[in-house]
Amino acid sequence: MSFNSITTRRFLQTAATLVAGIVLAACSKTEPPAPVAATPAPAASAPAPAAKVYLVGTDAAYAPFESQNEKGEIVGFDIEVVQAVAQKAGFEVKFLNTPWEGIFNTLAQGDRDLLVSAITITDERKQTMDFSSPYFDAQQLIAVKKDSKIAKFDDLKKLKVGVQNGTTGDEVVTKLQGKNSPNIKRFESTPLALKELEAGGVDAVVADNGVIVHYVKNNGDTKFKTVTDASFVSEQYGLAVKKGNTELQAKLNKGLADIKADGTYDKIYTKYFGAPAAATAAPAPAAAASK
Ligand code: ARG
Repeated sequence: MSFNSITTRRFLQTAATLVAGIVLAACSKTEPPAPVAATPAPAASAPAPAAKVYLVGTDAAYAPFESQNEKGEIVGFDIEVVQAVAQKAGFEVKFLNTPWEGIFNTLAQGDRDLLVSAITITDERKQTMDFSSPYFDAQQLIAVKKDSKIAKFDDLKKLKVGVQNGTTGDEVVTKLQGKNSPNIKRFESTPLALKELEAGGVDAVVADNGVIVHYVKNNGDTKFKTVTDASFVSEQYGLAVKKGNTELQAKLNKGLADIKADGTYDKIYTKYFGAPAAATAAPAPAAAASK
Protein backbone atom coordinates (compact mmCIF):
# COMPACT_ATOMS: atom_id res chain seq x y z
CA MET A 1 0.00 0.00 0.00
CA SER A 2 1.37 3.34 -0.95
CA PHE A 3 1.85 6.14 1.52
CA ASN A 4 -0.78 8.09 -0.31
CA SER A 5 -3.52 5.57 -0.09
CA ILE A 6 -2.90 5.10 3.62
CA THR A 7 -3.18 8.81 4.18
CA THR A 8 -6.32 8.91 2.09
CA ARG A 9 -7.80 6.01 3.98
CA ARG A 10 -6.95 7.59 7.31
CA PHE A 11 -8.51 10.78 6.15
CA LEU A 12 -11.69 9.03 5.08
CA GLN A 13 -11.88 7.12 8.34
CA THR A 14 -11.42 10.26 10.37
CA ALA A 15 -14.01 12.04 8.31
CA ALA A 16 -16.46 9.17 8.72
CA THR A 17 -15.95 9.15 12.48
CA LEU A 18 -16.49 12.85 12.64
CA VAL A 19 -19.69 12.69 10.64
CA ALA A 20 -20.96 9.82 12.77
CA GLY A 21 -20.17 11.82 15.85
CA ILE A 22 -22.06 14.83 14.64
CA VAL A 23 -25.07 12.74 13.66
CA LEU A 24 -25.02 11.00 17.02
CA ALA A 25 -24.74 14.26 18.87
CA ALA A 26 -27.65 15.65 16.92
CA CYS A 27 -29.78 12.56 17.56
CA SER A 28 -29.00 12.21 21.24
CA LYS A 29 -30.40 15.61 22.07
CA THR A 30 -33.41 15.06 24.27
CA GLU A 31 -34.74 18.54 23.80
CA PRO A 32 -36.58 19.56 20.68
CA PRO A 33 -34.13 21.16 18.26
CA ALA A 34 -33.78 24.83 19.00
CA PRO A 35 -34.79 27.23 16.29
CA VAL A 36 -31.82 28.27 14.21
CA ALA A 37 -29.91 30.41 16.62
CA ALA A 38 -28.62 32.95 14.17
CA THR A 39 -32.06 34.27 13.29
CA PRO A 40 -33.37 36.46 16.05
CA ALA A 41 -37.01 35.83 16.79
CA PRO A 42 -39.12 38.42 15.05
CA ALA A 43 -40.00 41.09 17.56
CA ALA A 44 -43.61 40.39 18.41
CA SER A 45 -44.11 43.63 20.25
CA ALA A 46 -42.76 47.10 19.79
CA PRO A 47 -39.02 47.17 19.20
CA ALA A 48 -37.85 47.07 22.80
CA PRO A 49 -34.99 49.32 23.71
CA ALA A 50 -32.35 46.86 24.90
CA ALA A 51 -33.38 46.25 28.50
CA LYS A 52 -30.74 46.45 31.14
CA VAL A 53 -29.45 43.06 32.22
CA TYR A 54 -28.68 42.75 35.90
CA LEU A 55 -26.41 40.01 37.16
CA VAL A 56 -28.01 38.15 40.05
CA GLY A 57 -25.89 36.13 42.44
CA THR A 58 -27.45 33.16 44.19
CA ASP A 59 -26.07 30.23 46.16
CA ALA A 60 -28.08 27.61 44.28
CA ALA A 61 -27.89 24.87 46.89
CA TYR A 62 -30.85 25.94 48.93
CA ALA A 63 -34.00 24.26 47.69
CA PRO A 64 -36.77 25.20 47.42
CA PHE A 65 -35.48 28.78 47.24
CA GLU A 66 -32.66 28.23 44.75
CA SER A 67 -31.19 25.07 43.36
CA GLN A 68 -30.01 23.56 40.10
CA ASN A 69 -32.22 21.15 38.20
CA GLU A 70 -30.96 18.18 36.16
CA LYS A 71 -30.25 20.48 33.25
CA GLY A 72 -28.12 22.72 35.43
CA GLU A 73 -30.63 25.54 35.31
CA ILE A 74 -31.09 27.61 38.43
CA VAL A 75 -34.66 27.30 39.64
CA GLY A 76 -36.72 27.97 42.74
CA PHE A 77 -39.01 30.30 44.63
CA ASP A 78 -36.44 33.11 44.83
CA ILE A 79 -35.69 32.82 41.14
CA GLU A 80 -39.32 33.12 40.13
CA VAL A 81 -39.86 36.06 42.44
CA VAL A 82 -36.93 37.94 40.94
CA GLN A 83 -37.99 37.05 37.41
CA ALA A 84 -41.47 38.39 38.11
CA VAL A 85 -40.06 41.54 39.70
CA ALA A 86 -37.78 42.07 36.72
CA GLN A 87 -40.65 41.70 34.31
CA LYS A 88 -42.71 44.30 36.17
CA ALA A 89 -39.82 46.68 36.52
CA GLY A 90 -38.72 46.27 32.91
CA PHE A 91 -35.24 44.88 33.26
CA GLU A 92 -33.63 41.56 32.50
CA VAL A 93 -31.82 39.24 34.86
CA LYS A 94 -29.10 36.68 34.52
CA PHE A 95 -28.63 34.30 37.44
CA LEU A 96 -25.13 33.25 38.39
CA ASN A 97 -24.47 30.46 40.83
CA THR A 98 -22.37 32.09 43.51
CA PRO A 99 -21.04 30.32 46.61
CA TRP A 100 -22.46 31.67 49.85
CA GLU A 101 -18.95 32.12 51.13
CA GLY A 102 -17.99 35.46 49.66
CA ILE A 103 -21.37 36.13 48.05
CA PHE A 104 -21.60 39.54 49.71
CA ASN A 105 -18.19 40.50 48.38
CA THR A 106 -19.40 40.05 44.82
CA LEU A 107 -21.86 42.88 45.45
CA ALA A 108 -19.28 45.14 46.96
CA GLN A 109 -16.90 44.48 44.07
CA GLY A 110 -19.54 45.06 41.44
CA ASP A 111 -19.42 41.50 40.06
CA ARG A 112 -23.13 41.12 40.87
CA ASP A 113 -25.84 43.76 40.78
CA LEU A 114 -28.11 42.04 43.22
CA LEU A 115 -28.32 38.92 45.33
CA VAL A 116 -31.26 36.64 45.92
CA SER A 117 -30.34 33.82 48.23
CA ALA A 118 -32.88 33.53 51.02
CA ILE A 119 -30.84 36.28 52.64
CA THR A 120 -32.06 37.32 56.05
CA ILE A 121 -32.10 41.08 56.53
CA THR A 122 -29.97 41.76 59.59
CA ASP A 123 -28.71 44.97 61.17
CA GLU A 124 -25.17 43.79 60.73
CA ARG A 125 -25.58 43.16 57.02
CA LYS A 126 -27.33 46.48 56.59
CA GLN A 127 -24.05 48.17 57.45
CA THR A 128 -22.44 46.90 54.28
CA MET A 129 -25.30 46.48 51.79
CA ASP A 130 -28.82 47.66 51.14
CA PHE A 131 -31.92 45.51 51.05
CA SER A 132 -35.23 45.60 49.26
CA SER A 133 -38.36 45.45 51.33
CA PRO A 134 -38.83 41.98 52.83
CA TYR A 135 -40.33 39.35 50.55
CA PHE A 136 -40.44 36.26 52.76
CA ASP A 137 -40.86 35.38 56.45
CA ALA A 138 -38.69 32.65 57.91
CA GLN A 139 -37.16 31.38 61.11
CA GLN A 140 -34.64 28.84 62.26
CA LEU A 141 -35.55 25.18 62.62
CA ILE A 142 -33.66 22.15 63.96
CA ALA A 143 -33.32 18.90 62.05
CA VAL A 144 -32.46 15.75 64.00
CA LYS A 145 -32.59 12.02 63.45
CA LYS A 146 -36.02 10.53 63.98
CA ASP A 147 -35.05 8.73 67.20
CA SER A 148 -33.26 11.75 68.70
CA LYS A 149 -34.06 12.87 72.27
CA ILE A 150 -33.42 16.50 71.37
CA ALA A 151 -36.58 18.44 72.19
CA LYS A 152 -35.49 22.07 72.37
CA PHE A 153 -32.71 24.36 71.21
CA ASP A 154 -31.01 24.40 74.60
CA ASP A 155 -30.48 20.64 74.32
CA LEU A 156 -27.88 21.43 71.65
CA LYS A 157 -25.62 23.26 74.07
CA LYS A 158 -23.07 20.46 74.34
CA LEU A 159 -23.85 18.56 71.14
CA LYS A 160 -22.35 18.59 67.67
CA VAL A 161 -24.34 20.91 65.47
CA GLY A 162 -23.99 21.45 61.73
CA VAL A 163 -24.66 24.84 60.16
CA GLN A 164 -23.90 26.61 56.92
CA ASN A 165 -20.96 28.91 57.57
CA GLY A 166 -21.93 32.55 57.99
CA THR A 167 -25.69 32.08 58.02
CA THR A 168 -28.17 33.16 60.64
CA GLY A 169 -28.26 29.49 61.68
CA ASP A 170 -24.54 29.76 62.38
CA GLU A 171 -25.24 32.93 64.37
CA VAL A 172 -27.81 31.39 66.73
CA VAL A 173 -25.73 28.27 67.37
CA THR A 174 -22.62 30.39 67.94
CA LYS A 175 -24.59 32.40 70.49
CA LEU A 176 -25.71 29.21 72.24
CA GLN A 177 -22.38 27.42 72.32
CA GLY A 178 -19.88 30.27 72.24
CA LYS A 179 -17.71 31.41 69.37
CA ASN A 180 -14.92 28.94 69.96
CA SER A 181 -17.03 25.88 70.57
CA PRO A 182 -15.43 22.86 68.90
CA ASN A 183 -18.89 21.36 68.51
CA ILE A 184 -20.05 23.76 65.82
CA LYS A 185 -19.40 22.19 62.45
CA ARG A 186 -19.52 24.85 59.76
CA PHE A 187 -20.22 23.72 56.21
CA GLU A 188 -19.95 25.44 52.89
CA SER A 189 -23.56 24.61 52.08
CA THR A 190 -26.65 23.55 53.96
CA PRO A 191 -27.05 20.26 52.01
CA LEU A 192 -23.53 19.29 53.15
CA ALA A 193 -24.49 19.90 56.77
CA LEU A 194 -27.59 17.75 56.30
CA LYS A 195 -25.56 14.98 54.69
CA GLU A 196 -23.37 14.99 57.77
CA LEU A 197 -26.46 14.63 59.97
CA GLU A 198 -27.44 11.61 57.92
CA ALA A 199 -23.93 10.19 58.29
CA GLY A 200 -24.06 10.69 62.04
CA GLY A 201 -21.24 13.24 62.16
CA VAL A 202 -23.45 15.83 63.83
CA ASP A 203 -26.40 15.50 66.20
CA ALA A 204 -28.44 18.28 64.65
CA VAL A 205 -28.53 20.87 61.89
CA VAL A 206 -29.90 24.37 62.39
CA ALA A 207 -31.01 26.25 59.29
CA ASP A 208 -33.94 28.13 57.77
CA ASN A 209 -37.28 26.37 58.25
CA GLY A 210 -38.21 26.29 54.56
CA VAL A 211 -35.06 24.45 53.63
CA ILE A 212 -35.17 22.01 56.54
CA VAL A 213 -38.81 21.14 55.92
CA HIS A 214 -38.15 20.65 52.22
CA TYR A 215 -35.15 18.42 52.88
CA VAL A 216 -36.88 16.23 55.45
CA LYS A 217 -39.85 15.82 53.16
CA ASN A 218 -37.76 14.92 50.13
CA ASN A 219 -34.80 13.08 51.56
CA GLY A 220 -35.83 11.21 54.58
CA ASP A 221 -39.24 11.59 56.05
CA THR A 222 -38.52 8.36 57.82
CA LYS A 223 -35.01 9.30 58.93
CA PHE A 224 -35.40 12.84 60.26
CA LYS A 225 -37.74 15.03 62.22
CA THR A 226 -37.82 18.74 62.95
CA VAL A 227 -37.71 20.51 66.31
CA THR A 228 -38.71 24.13 66.75
CA ASP A 229 -38.00 26.47 69.63
CA ALA A 230 -39.73 29.52 71.03
CA SER A 231 -36.41 31.36 71.14
CA PHE A 232 -36.14 31.46 67.36
CA VAL A 233 -37.03 34.96 66.25
CA SER A 234 -38.77 35.75 63.01
CA GLU A 235 -36.47 36.55 60.09
CA GLN A 236 -37.22 38.22 56.80
CA TYR A 237 -35.56 37.71 53.47
CA GLY A 238 -34.62 40.62 51.29
CA LEU A 239 -32.93 41.18 47.94
CA ALA A 240 -29.51 42.68 48.48
CA VAL A 241 -27.93 45.44 46.40
CA LYS A 242 -24.65 47.29 46.72
CA LYS A 243 -24.72 49.92 49.44
CA GLY A 244 -26.01 53.12 47.95
CA ASN A 245 -27.58 51.58 44.85
CA THR A 246 -30.88 53.28 45.55
CA GLU A 247 -31.87 53.17 41.88
CA LEU A 248 -31.97 49.38 41.73
CA GLN A 249 -33.34 49.14 45.24
CA ALA A 250 -36.28 51.34 44.25
CA LYS A 251 -36.95 49.27 41.13
CA LEU A 252 -36.93 46.09 43.21
CA ASN A 253 -39.30 47.55 45.78
CA LYS A 254 -41.67 48.73 43.10
CA GLY A 255 -41.57 45.33 41.40
CA LEU A 256 -42.15 43.51 44.67
CA ALA A 257 -45.11 45.75 45.50
CA ASP A 258 -46.53 45.15 42.01
CA ILE A 259 -46.29 41.37 42.14
CA LYS A 260 -47.84 41.35 45.60
CA ALA A 261 -50.67 43.56 44.42
CA ASP A 262 -51.54 41.63 41.26
CA GLY A 263 -51.43 38.11 42.75
CA THR A 264 -48.24 36.97 41.04
CA TYR A 265 -46.42 36.67 44.35
CA ASP A 266 -49.19 34.53 45.86
CA LYS A 267 -49.17 32.32 42.80
CA ILE A 268 -45.46 31.65 43.13
CA TYR A 269 -45.75 31.18 46.89
CA THR A 270 -48.55 28.66 46.49
CA LYS A 271 -46.60 26.77 43.83
CA TYR A 272 -43.72 26.23 46.24
CA PHE A 273 -45.37 26.14 49.65
CA GLY A 274 -48.83 24.80 48.96
CA ALA A 275 -50.82 27.78 50.19
CA PRO A 276 -50.62 31.53 49.89
CA ALA A 277 -48.41 33.30 52.43
CA ALA A 278 -50.11 34.09 55.71
CA ALA A 279 -51.53 37.56 55.54
CA THR A 280 -49.10 38.72 58.20
CA ALA A 281 -46.40 39.88 55.81
CA ALA A 282 -46.61 43.43 57.08
CA PRO A 283 -44.18 45.83 55.47
CA ALA A 284 -41.30 45.59 57.86
CA PRO A 285 -38.60 47.85 59.26
CA ALA A 286 -36.17 47.25 56.43
CA ALA A 287 -38.53 48.96 54.00
CA ALA A 288 -37.63 52.24 55.63
CA ALA A 289 -34.11 51.94 54.30
CA SER A 290 -35.34 52.60 50.78
CA LYS A 291 -36.43 56.11 51.61
N1 ARG B 1 -31.36 32.98 55.71
C1 ARG B 1 -30.05 32.58 56.11
C2 ARG B 1 -29.12 33.75 56.15
O1 ARG B 1 -29.38 34.75 55.58
C3 ARG B 1 -29.46 31.49 55.23
C4 ARG B 1 -29.40 31.81 53.80
C5 ARG B 1 -28.57 30.83 53.01
N2 ARG B 1 -28.90 30.91 51.63
C6 ARG B 1 -28.36 30.15 50.68
N3 ARG B 1 -28.79 30.25 49.45
N4 ARG B 1 -27.42 29.30 50.99
O2 ARG B 1 -28.10 33.69 56.76
